[in-house]
This record gives sequence, C-alpha cells and structure tokens, in this order.
Amino acid sequence: MSSFLTIADPQAARRLFLARSGLVLSGAAVALLAGRDALAAKSGAAQVGDARILNTALGAELEFLRDIGYTHLDIHESDLLGELQRVVTACEQCRLSKTRTQVVYGVGSPKADLMFIGEAPGRDEDLQGEPFVGRAGQLLTDIIKAMKLTRDDVYIANVIKCRPPENRNPEPDELEACRPYIRRQVELIEPKVIVTLGRFALQSLLERTYSITAARGQWLEYNGVKVMPTYHPAFLLRNPAAKKDVWSDMKKVMGELGIGG
Ligand code: URA
Repeated sequence: MSSFLTIADPQAARRLFLARSGLVLSGAAVALLAGRDALAAKSGAAQVGDARILNTALGAELEFLRDIGYTHLDIHESDLLGELQRVVTACEQCRLSKTRTQVVYGVGSPKADLMFIGEAPGRDEDLQGEPFVGRAGQLLTDIIKAMKLTRDDVYIANVIKCRPPENRNPEPDELEACRPYIRRQVELIEPKVIVTLGRFALQSLLERTYSITAARGQWLEYNGVKVMPTYHPAFLLRNPAAKKDVWSDMKKVMGELGIGG
C-alpha cells in the first residue's frame, strides 16, 4: 500500500503533519501560535487558542513553526486538497509529464459523498485541464444529472493525471507513479461511495486484477469506502446497450446514498 507524504514545500509538510496528527486547531478560524500560551508548553496539555495540544511532539512542532516565522495557523481540509494539487501539477514522476499539455487533477466538491474515478485524461481533458469534458465526459455528466445531481455535487478524478499519448492504455509504472495521488484525494475527500469507471480505474485504485464484466454492479470496498465498479462511459459510447447495466449500478449507488427517492 502506498502512502502520501508531501515534501515539496517544507511549510506544507508541517501543516500536513499537524493535520494528520488529528488535532483540529481551527476550522475557519485560526490558532494563534504567538507567545504566551501553548508554545511555552514542554509537556502535558496546553492551550493554543481554543485548541488543546495533547502532546509534547506537537508542542515542539508549533514552536518550530513560530521559530520559522509563523504567527497564525489555519488548517482546512480543502487547503490540503489545494496543497496536493500544487504537488500534482508539478509532478514529473513519469514519462507522461513530458507530453502532457496540462495536469488534470480533479473537480467538484471537496466534501462530496460521491466520487467518480476514471482512467486518464483524453485530448479534450489535456487541453482544458478538467476531467471528463469530452464526449465520454458529456455522457458521464448526463449520468450524474439522471442521478438528480450536478458535477458540483460530486468529485471527479482519474487514476492517471496526465494524458497518455494517442490515448494509449496507461503503463503499469505510470499507474504506480500516479496511484498515491488518487489515494490521497480519496483520503481528503472522504466520500461515502466511489464509482470506478472501467477496468483501469478499479484495478489501479484497489491494486488487484479484475474482470470488469464480472465485477460491475457488485459492491467492493476500499479503505472502508464502498466502491461500485461500473463500465467506462467511453465503452458506453461504443456499446449503448450496456447503458442499462450502468443505470442499474447507479440505482444501487443512489440507494446507498439515499438520493433520488
Ligand atoms: N476518460 C477518462 O477516463 N477520464 C477522463 O477524464 C476523460 C476520459
């Protein structure tokens, strides 16, 4: 299993450390780091603004932040998604970075209950920097609308963030290099349900081999999140008769999420 650590920006790494420590220092508000209260704490629990510092390691982290010049700390999960986007946008971990026009990170609500995960950007997505905006994307948008949702209600991303030349299948080392990004997106968004679109999305996220025909429509699980595998919209464009299967899968998803009556 891969795990994600940002080291591109030391300040971001500090904020990630604090966020991962489980201590929510504030929501929209800020925790004051300056001076008197917690930063003097060398042991035990102490106050930083409204928050409790529960251990000395965290106290030391906060001292470090003050020492390098911070006076305020504001932690938002959506900022973490933004931090991740900056890292992904600068990624050169595989050969696809050489040929891409834009990195296609993901769009939608950072608090989405439902996440759609596709394979990789195509030509339109590479040009626009947004997932599922071409013909297959239009069909996905129609499916989302049929579920009585909008693209803004859900989150849409791919297991591969850069377009494979000529839309070839992603190579195993490309999937490997990109996997931490989609996993981290799932971790930050915390959806209730993930719909994987096509074989590559399913296999790469779960790191197992599947037959999409056998797996589709069956609930699976990824890190405690329910996963509904279904066909890729590009497959539906070539095989419209399979649309009814996808709709039957989406009805299960709607039932799980309690939407659409
Ligand atoms: N196909 C995908 O898998 N993802 C996109 O973003 C577009 C087409």
